[in-house]
Amino acid sequence: MSDRTNFRPLGALRGALRPPADKSISHRAAMIAAMGEEEAEVVGYLDAADTRSTLDAVQAVGARLLHEEKATDVVGEGDGLGAPTLRIAGVGLRGARSASIDVGNAGTLLRLLPGWLAGQPTGAWELDGDESIRKRPVDRIADPLRQMGAVLDANDDLPPLRIEAAPLRGITYELPVASAQVKSCVLLAGLVAEGETRVVEPLPTRDHSERMLAAAGAQVSRAGDTVVIAPAERLEPGRIVVPADFSSAAFFIAAATIVPGSDVLLHHVGVNPTRTGLLAILERMGAEGIEVIPGGEEGGEPIGDIRVGHSELRGCEVGGTDVPLAIDELPLVALVACFAEGTTTIRDAAELRRKESDRIAVVTDALRALGGRVEATEDGMVIEGTGGLRGGQIDSHGDHRIAMLGAVAGVASTDGVEVGNMAAAGVSYPGFQGDLNSLLHGPPLRDPVH
Ligand code: S3P
Repeated sequence: MSDRTNFRPLGALRGALRPPADKSISHRAAMIAAMGEEEAEVVGYLDAADTRSTLDAVQAVGARLLHEEKATDVVGEGDGLGAPTLRIAGVGLRGARSASIDVGNAGTLLRLLPGWLAGQPTGAWELDGDESIRKRPVDRIADPLRQMGAVLDANDDLPPLRIEAAPLRGITYELPVASAQVKSCVLLAGLVAEGETRVVEPLPTRDHSERMLAAAGAQVSRAGDTVVIAPAERLEPGRIVVPADFSSAAFFIAAATIVPGSDVLLHHVGVNPTRTGLLAILERMGAEGIEVIPGGEEGGEPIGDIRVGHSELRGCEVGGTDVPLAIDELPLVALVACFAEGTTTIRDAAELRRKESDRIAVVTDALRALGGRVEATEDGMVIEGTGGLRGGQIDSHGDHRIAMLGAVAGVASTDGVEVGNMAAAGVSYPGFQGDLNSLLHGPPLRDPVH
């Protein structure tokens, strides 16, 4: 039996917190640290199920975790709880040893690591994971890697994925779908290939890999829609600082926007423009209460504090370039659209069907069960704003972002929401319920921002 958790409307969200470390950046930090020649330090690594899978995976291929230090205040303001500093001794770019790897629920690990492994001088690997991972297609990485000369084998394009070391050559690859995971996989393969590798993006996607690889000394550059990477002898990742995850902050951004009287300050959040598409969408929906207070750069990633208050929203059109820039936040767009006036249409988002769950089907069913007027389309959703949600029961389907969406729906609803399998949130945000509670009972923020 899965757990069932109630989220009741308890009024406005108030207070400040630092959301957990960025999942995308943490995955990359562990992998790139493992590729390094010398010891690397990762400050504020996400301590959650997905990123533990990546830490286990890099150790399976030979990287050594030298030191793990629990930090109470990692960098800057906020509690930073659960964000340890890691010291990792890498195996070098061409020193991964054979292993059988359990990726758990982590799609990013499943899609990125094979790029590096495929181009090793020797070795063989198998990657497999949980029930959800066995539904996540790997042909999207197998196709370009095979063009580069990789030897891979999958089960009808689904995991388990078997890889044998092979010499790779650089290619020019036009991504058929805008995917940062596929782009990153090909770039990692390019590091250990012969000749330059180019990846052409149909639309801009998150660029954490490019930024982190450049900081580690790789020759990576962008010309228009094309990312170019040269093979490298060695990487020197040095010190990688992980900001708080915009995608985790997004749950509080959404909640504060739709619950009247809210005033929330989120510290030290990664505000890389390839991640913050939700803010642009909310602005188009009429949100006036969101302010990003820039906090400089760390490890090539822009950081900021985000202050959010309640706004009356109107429906809007979401599609095209919005989609990869807000891919993990589109379920929240559908949720806030229920609280808006008018119709919101989400298009060009068929990729949502291939995430930890079919997020078009699951979000549509969930919001309807709570009183929303939502229709699923092949590549998105149409949401008729009804000014709010009644509440009811939903299930997370083991998808962390659906669990947290249910919680936000609950605190914004009239009658509350009961979420089945809330534990799924632990994939990216183990402390979510505690953080949400602290905002529900928090004192008003004292200082005006300026
Ligand atoms: C991710 C990229 C996105 C996103 C996923 C994490 C990454 O997937 O949905 O949660 O870390 O590169 P795609 O790039 O495959 O759309």
